[in-house]
Amino acid sequence: MGPTAEEIIRDADLSNKTCLITGANSGIGLELTKCLNANGCKVLMACRNTYEASVVAKNCCEKHENINLYELNLASLASVKKCSEKILQNEKKLDIVILNAATFGLPWTLTEDGLETTFQVNYLAQFFFIITLEKILAPEARVVFTSAESHRNIKWPIETMLSPTLNDISLPEKEYTSIKAYNVSKLCGVLAMHYLGYRWLNSNISVFCAHPGSFIKTRLSRNWWVFETLYTSMIPFAKNAKQGASTIMYCATSPELTGLSTLYFKNCRRSSESVMARDSYLSFKIQDLTRDVIRDKVPGYDYSIVKPDTQGDMEKETMEDTLASNYST
Ligand SMILES: NC(=O)c1ccc[n+]([C@@H]2O[C@H](COP(=O)([O-])OP(=O)(O)OC[C@H]3O[C@@H](n4cnc5c(N)ncnc54)[C@H](OP(=O)(O)O)[C@@H]3O)[C@@H](O)[C@H]2O)c1
Repeated sequence: MGPTAEEIIRDADLSNKTCLITGANSGIGLELTKCLNANGCKVLMACRNTYEASVVAKNCCEKHENINLYELNLASLASVKKCSEKILQNEKKLDIVILNAATFGLPWTLTEDGLETTFQVNYLAQFFFIITLEKILAPEARVVFTSAESHRNIKWPIETMLSPTLNDISLPEKEYTSIKAYNVSKLCGVLAMHYLGYRWLNSNISVFCAHPGSFIKTRLSRNWWVFETLYTSMIPFAKNAKQGASTIMYCATSPELTGLSTLYFKNCRRSSESVMARDSYLSFKIQDLTRDVIRDKVPGYDYSIVKPDTQGDMEKETMEDTLASNYST
């Protein structure tokens, strides 16, 4: 079943590093939190129930005084904005960001922002979160999306590939199944990695996607007894949460990946994402939709790229500037 996250991180000294993790209070996120904390990393747990997270941190983490808790409800873009404002106020830099939270198996519901919940929680809100925190990413920061192999199960016809609409990613009730919504959200995550790789092309920030393993028995299956039964029956054949956290830990910390970016991993090895997930045109089309939704739902939000200049002040750059500087001779 492969190594555990603890084995991957064994020799690492992370004492000057800060790692932000979404969904850090449960399953794979909690395993990551425990291992990073044990190796001296300051961990920022971004969770929707900070009381529960504080109890878990006290019970599971040896150096829990080196953990900061932030309230984050991904089903609310206002909560995401508030959480990132607090982080920007309190923290100087982020060396590692692990976008790990997810929901699965819900009946069709809309968030307070009017978007399908799985899509917003698993993709859109976490994408918005990382964009709002971009200005404090360390020069060689690593951003890791917890991905899923099931992103491969989404196959859109050519018309959708050329012109996806919001209804293709934030599913309306009549087209909804919880599995489809989850797979679409994970596909959007891999496409977002490609967009961010491009957005950060002129920096040393790396972005990776990591598939933890399939049918890992965590609280992910809690929303429907059928999934609970399936995941429980798969325990003998699946990784546990400690093993499931290893590929994410590898992407977040391994020196072997220094200087690399925009790669998909499983079993701590380079793998290839689906053909659709590495389609640059689709990545930018989904990005256009994402930007329009965020501008619509979070009025006044400035989507420009913010990068630290050599003096330590912030410089703003539009996507058009980036394109121009990369393609001018
Ligand atoms: N388990 C698997 O077999 C498997 C397979 C492939 C990929 N993955 C991925 O691995 C990652 C971790 O999942 P897991 O298996 O460890 O499941 P988990 O134990 O259910 O953890 C999911 C985390 O996401 C958080 N979350 C859910 N909705 C949220 C919201 N609205 N706002 C903020 N946080 C929210 C949960 O917080 P609460 O505790 O407050 O609900 C929890 O901390 C996910 O991205 C999942 O898609 C898992």
